[in-house]
Order: sequence, then structure tokens, then C-alpha cells
Amino acid sequence: MTITYKDDSGVQGMRTAGRLASEVLDHITPHIQPGITTNQIDQLAADFMKLQGTTSATLGYQPQGYPPYPKSLCTSVNHVVCHGIPNDKALKKGDIVNVDVTVIKDGWFGDTSRMFMVGDVSIQAKRLCALTFDAMWHGIVRVKPGVRLGDIGFAIQRFAEGQGFSIVREFCGHGIGQKFHEEPQVLHYGKPGTLEELKPGMTFTIEPMINAGRRDIKEFGNDGWTIVTKDHSLSAQWEHTVLVTETGYEVLTLSAGAPRPPAFVGG
Ligand code: MF3
Ligand code: CO
Ligand code: CO
Repeated sequence: MTITYKDDSGVQGMRTAGRLASEVLDHITPHIQPGITTNQIDQLAADFMKLQGTTSATLGYQPQGYPPYPKSLCTSVNHVVCHGIPNDKALKKGDIVNVDVTVIKDGWFGDTSRMFMVGDVSIQAKRLCALTFDAMWHGIVRVKPGVRLGDIGFAIQRFAEGQGFSIVREFCGHGIGQKFHEEPQVLHYGKPGTLEELKPGMTFTIEPMINAGRRDIKEFGNDGWTIVTKDHSLSAQWEHTVLVTETGYEVLTLSAGAPRPPAFVGG
């Protein structure tokens, strides 16, 4: 496997797929209220994808060593770190949930996730969601030709650990294009000046998973997918797909309802 560099038409394809993935999140946002089940969220998204003319990249997705993923998106609630499978349990006031959507449009993939707070949540949960959003953006703003992936990971790690939170090491961002997961791996920790150099036309995700407690994780149950924090502490994640441009970055997974970048992001 090698890194793919997108030409103008590839960039167009990635822009469209990215926007559509973000619009799925916009569509479900008003529905994320106490009492809704994660299966209902999944169904809302599946119906909307049909209207968009997209398909879910997660439905039936089966990397080596995994069972086929059974749903159109992932819903990771509270101490679930990632890959939570929608089910018939209702969300309740105080929950935090990551919804992760990956769509395919004309062969191109767009991958994005956001945190949602269900009704009023604890101050600690709010802080974790906000800090994880900022951590993602601390990585994004570094993206430009000549920078290395280790610089991105370092920026995220310094910020999150500096606030007393921990970063999950076992899962990372990834190159994306006409495949769901391509090279390179995009670690959310690292050393400045190390790893792959960024070049125009690269597209990859930045998707830090940050825990309120320790960084250790474990598999949960026997569905082959669900990952939880070992110490049961809350975990949060945000994800954007980004393009390396000639002068910096372009976030591909934006839409009318996507949260605006934090204040420290210029422009
Ligand atoms: N969307 C996830 C990512 O950001 C991958 C989910 S794979 C699934 O890479 F099969 F669990 F859906
Ligand atoms: Co991803
Ligand atoms: Co994702």
C-alpha cells in the first residue's frame, strides 16, 4: 500500500463526499435527544444517505480479522471509545455520544464524526468534548506541505496531555480516497520532525480519541468491534477529513451545520 495523491478531479470527488458525510451529521443532530435509540439514529442516517445518493462505507465493512460491521454508522456512548454498534438502548440525559459517519459518493470516501451531548451533561463531560474538538483542530492547523505527521501528532498530544487528559494510542487517523483506510497512519501523538512529510494532494483524517482517565482500552463484549476505556472513564472523539493544499489545508468534511473552528484557528 502507498499514499495516493489526488489530482483536481480527485479533490472534487473528495470535496463532495466530505460535504455529504457532514450533511448526514447535520441531518441527525436535532434528533439526538433523550429517549432516541442509537438504532433509530442509524435508520435516520441510512434513509438520508439514500436520498443523498450515497452509500455507507461502514455497512458490511470487514477489515482482516473483523466480522462484517452491521450498521450504517458508529455510535460510541460515554466510555465507549470507538466503533460502538447502534442498538435498541435509548440515550438518556447526561450521555455523551460520538456519531461517526463515512459515506461513499462516486467511489470517493468522506469520513467525519462529532460529539453530541444528550440533554444537560456534567461539566467534566462538556469539558472533555470541547477539549477533544480543540485537540483535533490543533492538529488540523499544522497541516501544510513540508510538515511531518509527527508534528501533527505532537501538537495534539501536547495540547491534550497538557490539560491532564490521555490519548488513545491503538487507533489513529488514516489516508482516505477511493478506499476507506489508506496509508498513511495519522497518529495523535508523536515527535516533531518525524514520520511522513505532507505533500499537496494528500487526503487523510485527523480523529483523536481522548479519555478523561487513563489511556488504556479494551474490547467490550464479543461483537468484535466495540472498544471501551479500561478504567470506565469517559472518552470523546472528533473527526475531519482534510486535504493538503499548496499552502496549507482544506477541511473537506464541512457543511452548514458543522461546528465552527475554535477561536485560535485564524481566518
Ligand atoms: N469511521 C471509522 C474511522 O474513522 C471507522 C469505522 S469502521 C466500522 O476510521 F466498521 F466500525 F464502522
Ligand atoms: Co476515520
Ligand atoms: Co470515522
